[in-house]
Amino acid sequence: MSELKIAIQKSGRLNENSRRLLEECGIKFSNGSGVLKTKAVNFPVEILFLRDDDIPQYVEQQVADIGILGENMVFEKSKDVSVIEKLGFAQCRLSLAIPKEENYPGPEYFNGKKVATSYPKLLSEYFEKNGIKAEIEEISGSVEIAPGIGLADAVCDIVSSGSTLMTNGLREVTSILKSQAVIIGNKKLSGDKKKILEKLLFRIRAVKSAGENKYILLNAPESAIPEICRILPGMKSPTILPLAEKGWFSLHSVVREDEFWERINQLKSAGAEGILVIPIEKMIL
Ligand code: PRP
Ligand code: ZN
Repeated sequence: MSELKIAIQKSGRLNENSRRLLEECGIKFSNGSGVLKTKAVNFPVEILFLRDDDIPQYVEQQVADIGILGENMVFEKSKDVSVIEKLGFAQCRLSLAIPKEENYPGPEYFNGKKVATSYPKLLSEYFEKNGIKAEIEEISGSVEIAPGIGLADAVCDIVSSGSTLMTNGLREVTSILKSQAVIIGNKKLSGDKKKILEKLLFRIRAVKSAGENKYILLNAPESAIPEICRILPGMKSPTILPLAEKGWFSLHSVVREDEFWERINQLKSAGAEGILVIPIEKMIL
């Protein structure tokens, strides 16, 4: 049986999170720098380390079967691939930025200007939609330096923390796309490869759900239990165990990370004490 070939970014914003995701799925592979291709030792996959810009094309041509990369690249390259799963990490946006001291009246600012980008397709669509006539200068990297060296008046590039823009004296003025990491796949995978992909997706979803949830333990008097059960729906309903002290119980449940702080306050006012919150490693739904 042949392995499923997974392309991940060789270096850059997505590299570390992509490796970690595979490792958290229990997939062991050699991680040496400079390695461009490696087979996992305990799962039927081969990992290819590529430039994210090239991944859509390689997946379309089935040089790789699936790839992990930012939606930004998927949209820009618009190759014939399917988006299989959103991964929730590497959140960023594609934005236009101008020298920080310049005044920005609105998109018309860009009329007659030259804008450097690695995203010519998405940028020209944006300009067209807004009726802007600007010149697009396509460059493949270090886009933010373009205004500083006189190559362009503005840039259109990925912004995550914003620190690259700031270091280069630029100011984000409008955002044209939101993005996160996704898995894309070739549309004609063999039955064998589809089976491996299903196994991998099962593990990825378990890792993802675990990251989105917390295990919570707390103590409460018997009278507070109905109210606490209402606040803590959990996967089914909370586990309730009696404490050595009469009339007191320990409740265990799962809460969503994003609802967590709100729930904590509700629980305290309902009478919960000794609240413990613990990370979950894997969660099978
Ligand atoms: C993007 C962009 C900036 C950086 C911005 O590169 O080109 O260099 O991220 O991040 P910040 O706002 O946190 O400073 P990306 O990793 O997408 O990769 P690339 O080198 O493949 O273009
Ligand atoms: Zn890239």
